Amino acid sequence: MSKTVRLEPIAQQTSVETNANLLSVLINKDLDVLRECGGRGMCATCHVYVQDGMESLSPINRREQRTLEVITSCKSNSRLACQARVLQNGVVVELPPGMYINSLKDIEGLIGRRAEQDLLHPLTGQILVESGKLITRSMLKKLEDTTSFNVSSYFSNSSSL
Ligand code: FES
Repeated sequence: MSKTVRLEPIAQQTSVETNANLLSVLINKDLDVLRECGGRGMCATCHVYVQDGMESLSPINRREQRTLEVITSCKSNSRLACQARVLQNGVVVELPPGMYINSLKDIEGLIGRRAEQDLLHPLTGQILVESGKLITRSMLKKLEDTTSFNVSSYFSNSSSL
């Protein structure tokens, strides 16, 4: 049996096997989901909002809850796509605006340009550079100096997991 899921704001409808997670829906649609933790509910790069049909998804588990708590863009309808399984029809998923960055190098290549969309911290979902803002070297320096911005150390640690 399959279930139908709708994706907004790209207005796409798709069907998945019952009990498949929302992450597989996004990947099937070729959406660029960073999924840094490999779908284990430990990063936030598969964060989505559920516009409708929350009751048609599997309930939030503890790990998901804990990860969601650190995302600044978390709302009451937030879910981690890798943890939310589709049990019934009627789920409408809203993709958060913005792009998760992999590393400071991602931003480095954009210096001197305006951010076309919000650039998001890969772990917390915090907005690092707002859409429309000019990306400058001093901004990059500031990000490096921010203790909460520990992406490079996270990535070197994560490889040893
Ligand atoms: S892929 Fe990391 S929390 Fe879903």
